[in-house]
Amino acid sequence: MTIQPLGTLARTHTCGALTAADVGQDVVLLGWVHRVRDLGSLLFFDIRDRYGLTQVVARDSPALVGDAQSLRPEFVVAVLGHVERRSPETENPKMKTGQIEIAAREIRILNEAKTPPFPVADDSVITEDTRLKYRYIDLRRHRMQYNIALRHRATKEIRRYFDAEGFLEIETPMLTKSTPEGARDYLVPSRVHPGEFYALPQSPQIFKQILMISGFDRYFQIVKCFRDEDLRADRQPEFTQVDLEISFATEELVFSTVEPLMGRLMALIGRDAPRPFRRMPYAEAIAKYGSDKPDLRGGIEIVDVSTAFAESPFGLFREALGAGGVVRGFVVPGGARYSRRELDELVEQGKQLGSSGLVWSRAPEGPVQSSALKAAGEPAIRAALDASGAGASDLLLLASGKAEATSRLLGQLRLQAARKAGLLKPDEFAFLWVVDFPMFEWVEDENRYEFMHHPFTSPLESDAGMLETDPGRARARAYDLVLNGSEVAGGSIRIHDQSLQRLIFKLLKISDEEARLRFGFFVDALEYGTPPHGGIALGLDRTVAILCGEPSIRDVIAFPKTAQAVDLMAGAPSPVDPRQLQELRLRV
Ligand code: AMO
Repeated sequence: MTIQPLGTLARTHTCGALTAADVGQDVVLLGWVHRVRDLGSLLFFDIRDRYGLTQVVARDSPALVGDAQSLRPEFVVAVLGHVERRSPETENPKMKTGQIEIAAREIRILNEAKTPPFPVADDSVITEDTRLKYRYIDLRRHRMQYNIALRHRATKEIRRYFDAEGFLEIETPMLTKSTPEGARDYLVPSRVHPGEFYALPQSPQIFKQILMISGFDRYFQIVKCFRDEDLRADRQPEFTQVDLEISFATEELVFSTVEPLMGRLMALIGRDAPRPFRRMPYAEAIAKYGSDKPDLRGGIEIVDVSTAFAESPFGLFREALGAGGVVRGFVVPGGARYSRRELDELVEQGKQLGSSGLVWSRAPEGPVQSSALKAAGEPAIRAALDASGAGASDLLLLASGKAEATSRLLGQLRLQAARKAGLLKPDEFAFLWVVDFPMFEWVEDENRYEFMHHPFTSPLESDAGMLETDPGRARARAYDLVLNGSEVAGGSIRIHDQSLQRLIFKLLKISDEEARLRFGFFVDALEYGTPPHGGIALGLDRTVAILCGEPSIRDVIAFPKTAQAVDLMAGAPSPVDPRQLQELRLRV
């Protein structure tokens, strides 16, 4: 059969619309051939568009069946026919259109398709590189159609929410100057100013603060940000933020703005986000969960059992405690039944994460068992089990060393153990505000402090005095929103006082000259009546990925890049025409 024109043919219904109520109607459907079942004298196929699938039967004339036999998956077709009720035994209750089929009168092939590199019709597992190379095919699959549509609904809900709350959506430049967010910049050479470059924004941070200085009071933007950094499942070189800033803001005002928004987003998947969200200081998150973005599902907490080993002869723990360190551990619910092999695996995982020796202990009905029973002695192990609250069916895992390093190690093991015990339920959503982050991190190699959030973040009022005397201990008015162990948003109350901003630059060893060169316009602006202000940015990709139940943000971005920052479909990055380089006065 040859390709035929669409002509003036218009669809009467989408492929997801027809039900038993439409039986008898004459219809025109337009879409892709999904699956074909050829039974010889008659032929069934499903026609697909983004709204659903409808079964078509070709049976009324040998010519029609002959036409249908030339159909292949992914051909684009028009089906003209009438709606019939399926016989009861062929009904499909799982599909909206499952009670009917279209008896075709005419089938027009509007376009043919090469055999696709993988089937659209099933969920077979395809390598991600193949999916990304043929993204146009991959995007036809049900899962991606669902994810992209949910993303659309999320952005629509976000705009509706902020509009109702009096926020203005204001665009900020893409060709701009570097904004320090801790990553490398993507640079764009200027043709008009040879040797000079724009930077793509790592975030609109400086511009949104200037919008507060300009009196816009409440700003938001759904905005692309660009960061040249190591990529992971939750990081893309270009990603989308829901960015907002509020004048005269306090932490409470920011939280009470974001929490209802998260509630609206959860409602899109029929879930709730009970408010207020839990809050936890950074120091507690590190000590109890070994992470600044703890996954609270499952509830396992790290406990300090150092006192249980104060008198114990166990060399490993004694050494750690003697050096001012700790013995900490966590309870794996139901872990008492782990086999010897499973226990060895846990110890091995600990080793791979850098543990100098992970100790397991348990006290099922009967005597205490422990990998350090002989060395540490029964009383110490018993005391540790009691202190940790381990029951007869549980397992206690212990590690020793410096306090933070020990908690961080246990934090990773805690996640693996929780996953193994089935405690990280995909349909549970645990929101958490992590607050009181340190202002600075010490960079050992460079012998200087680096900002933890960005250099425009205010210190806690109570800690402002420490900035010059003990900057490492000063805490910031910075907060992250964590959802199921993923950092979905981060923000802070800003510095609005120019002298404090100067002091922070000084502590970060950003010289006056460098500050002037990099953010002179911003420092100047601060001098013209800056209101106290603060805000936050939500990672849209990460949030939507969690709503979709996807482990990677690549599955909620229509055209993402690989972990090597490559667009496999378009073939970017790529060499450019030497003439273009010449115009830009660049040599590679
Ligand atoms: P921050 O750097 O914490 O804050 O970014 C805010 C949120 O953006 C998301 N995010 C990313 N998502 C995907 N790929 C990436 N490479 C990536 N990097 C960050 C995260 C993160 O929580 N200007 C500040 C916000 C503020 O202070 O108001 C900022 O950009 O979900």
